[in-house]
Amino acid sequence: MTSFAPAAHLEVMSEEPQHPDTQARDARVEEIARRLGVRAERGRRFAELTSLRVGGEIDWLLVPETEEQAASVVGALEEAGLAWRVLGAGSNVLADDREHRYVVVSTREVKGEARFEGERVSVSAGFSLPRLCVEAARQGLSGIEGLGGIPGTVGGALWMNAGAYGHEIGEVVESVRVARGGRVVEVPGSDVKWDYRHTSFKEGELLLGCTLRLRLDDPEKIKARMEEAKQKRFATQPHGARSAGCFFKNPPGSGLSTGKMIDEMGLKGERRGGALVSPVHANFIVTEGEGARASDALALAEEIRERFRREHGVELEYEVELWGADAEFKDEGRRMKDEDRRGEGETG
Ligand code: EPU
Repeated sequence: MTSFAPAAHLEVMSEEPQHPDTQARDARVEEIARRLGVRAERGRRFAELTSLRVGGEIDWLLVPETEEQAASVVGALEEAGLAWRVLGAGSNVLADDREHRYVVVSTREVKGEARFEGERVSVSAGFSLPRLCVEAARQGLSGIEGLGGIPGTVGGALWMNAGAYGHEIGEVVESVRVARGGRVVEVPGSDVKWDYRHTSFKEGELLLGCTLRLRLDDPEKIKARMEEAKQKRFATQPHGARSAGCFFKNPPGSGLSTGKMIDEMGLKGERRGGALVSPVHANFIVTEGEGARASDALALAEEIRERFRREHGVELEYEVELWGADAEFKDEGRRMKDEDRRGEGETG
């Protein structure tokens, strides 16, 4: 059975786990946060920070506020050999129920303002995607209006090449700013592979922001197209529910909809504990109630995959990212060679 995969850049616990010196580690994280003036929080839970509203405690949450700060903080964590993961709006993450022993770097406050210049807009990773779509429409800039109903941050959308109704964000990216060696580095959009809900960005690369190149058009027409996309989404997908968007990818190249197929298997409303298949769109797993657990959602997802395999002979691929808690701090930083990477197929 598929379990929560540690992100590729996080060390998997060895069979005989080495117990880290927690105090020394805490002191190192604290020192980095203080030196760089980055807010550090303890005792937060994924249940508060993800849209599925499940998931365990986070050892350290670091909350930088600028692209430069975010780049230096991950640079310093790397130098200190401390494992980290990036969390945006938490709208595409299912984190397991145990305590997560690594540093979570939140990009939520790395948002600033969207800067418009001619047909271009430059925006930071933590900026809200729906808000960017509204602002672009107001400026008479077309190209992302179809994405206006997708919740989440710009960074998350770039990471997974978010898309809806035939358009994906990758189509309009002129350049992306990423953190490398503690600095902000600009990468041309054409150097990135933008695939269906997947990009060539590597685990361990923190996306800080981007410049999009849009096209001038009549603001009213853009707004009308955005409204149409939002309405379609509202009519066919759950909103206001605790979900992570579509849970599985559609079978690649098939033109088939996983949601439609799960629906036809009669699974809408199917429940495991506090998790159920949305009665609105069958590719959404939603959670309900205070008692909902990540393990409920995962058990339900695995049941769906099992039945899908039996009935359609197809192995469903997760679209949401599954975050396991089994990450110990690393001794030699997070830079890993490609052959050391694991679980990349698991993350959208
Ligand atoms: N349908 C059903 N029952 C269902 C769900 C869908 O019969 O429970 C039918 C619909 O009525 C429609 C067809 O299946 O005739 C396709 O449905 P939809 O338009 O919702 O498209 P989808 O392939 O299920 C994809 C994306 C969505 C995106 C929509 C619209 C994936 C996995 N999903 O869904 O993206 O919003 O197209 O472009 O690629 C997401 O990325 O999180 C997401 C939800």
